[in-house]
Amino acid sequence: MRHVFEFYNLILNGFKAVITIQDDWEFNVLGIYNFLKPGRFDALFKFIQDNHSKIPGDIVEAGVYRGSSLIALGMLLKQLGSDKKVYGFDSFAGFPPIYHPKDALSNFERMYEASLIDDHHIMAVRKNRQWWEALHMEHEVPLTEGISSSGAFSDTSIGLLKRKIELVGLDNIILVDGPFNETMTVAVEPTKIMAVVMDCDLYRSYLDAFEFTWPRLSTGGMIHLDEYYSLKFPGGRLATDEFIRDKRARLEMATLKPGDFQRWYAIKEG
Ligand SMILES: C[S@@+](CC[C@H](N)C(=O)[O-])C[C@H]1O[C@@H](n2cnc3c(N)ncnc32)[C@H](O)[C@@H]1O
Repeated sequence: MRHVFEFYNLILNGFKAVITIQDDWEFNVLGIYNFLKPGRFDALFKFIQDNHSKIPGDIVEAGVYRGSSLIALGMLLKQLGSDKKVYGFDSFAGFPPIYHPKDALSNFERMYEASLIDDHHIMAVRKNRQWWEALHMEHEVPLTEGISSSGAFSDTSIGLLKRKIELVGLDNIILVDGPFNETMTVAVEPTKIMAVVMDCDLYRSYLDAFEFTWPRLSTGGMIHLDEYYSLKFPGGRLATDEFIRDKRARLEMATLKPGDFQRWYAIKEG
């Protein structure tokens, strides 16, 4: 699909100038995922490109952080001429204190013993942990405790997101500020969803996001599962398997080239 996105033109608010974002360094400086080159969201972006005029509903991102993928999604929709919106849910202050025992790294070993993950996955988890421990100083927080603690990803703010959105001139992004267990239990919009980006790492966050989005997701809609294959966050996969067990859903892995990290998504079948 890459040839479709040759460049991206934007009206820079205030200056009434046209700017072009096309080079990798420009995306990097702005902190935006470069959807013009291959990357971890390929399957999702291709799905949106192929289906935006066929499947009703907006796009939800559960886990925005500094807006890298959120803003890229807004840009893609503009590029496609779509009037769909992107709803970004986050505390904009890092993980809320919702750590669950299923987020502990040791769950990967249990998942392996129960054949829920394969040899390749557990080897990668172990190697990642060994290398992390070898490279970090003793006074730093050990991976096992630090990786999923509340406050991680707190180096962001809703102000930063608003400035970025204004800078690139997007009017199709809605920020929903707060912990999911508060915002997703009361949010009315969007009433219909075409695609979900699940990038919120933790067991409880995944379940909250599934409970909010699944009833609103159109048949044929996609959920990108950023942590279904993770080396750090077992809770995303555990929550996904629990949630979709009794749903009409199809789990799929994106096509891999040698050396690629596994990427997974679910399609709602009814
Ligand atoms: C990995 S980051 C998201 C990365 C982002 N999609 C990107 O492209 O850079 C995870 C985000 O999920 C948010 N998050 C996780 N659980 C949450 C919850 N229960 N409520 C609100 N925000 C949550 C964190 O605040 C963090 O910003």
